[in-house]
Amino acid sequence: MPWRRIFSEKALENAGGSVAVKVEDKVIFVAKVEDKLYAIDAVCTHARCILENLDREKLTVRCWCHGAVFDLKTGAMIEPPTVAPNFPRQRMGVETYSARINDGWVELEI
Ligand code: FES
Repeated sequence: MPWRRIFSEKALENAGGSVAVKVEDKVIFVAKVEDKLYAIDAVCTHARCILENLDREKLTVRCWCHGAVFDLKTGAMIEPPTVAPNFPRQRMGVETYSARINDGWVELEI
């Protein structure tokens, strides 16, 4: 898949190092933690809220709506929604994308 420029590295810094951004028909959460860039689908698989609540130490993203937690590295749902503790989280992870900074731009392989 081709690499696509999404926004400048400066824009990511100005957003606090993480942001959810619309790319064509997807919403993708991009986060820079230390020198590593991560990108996962930002639409929660429970009820489609946008994932934006980054935990930099655990490398996870918590959904604002019902608290599901996703692994930033793998996209796996590692905690189910609080309103649905029996949610089949093993099958409800989100897609991950290769991400890089190239010449001052955040690029995703999508
Ligand atoms: S919409 Fe994300 S946990 Fe419910």
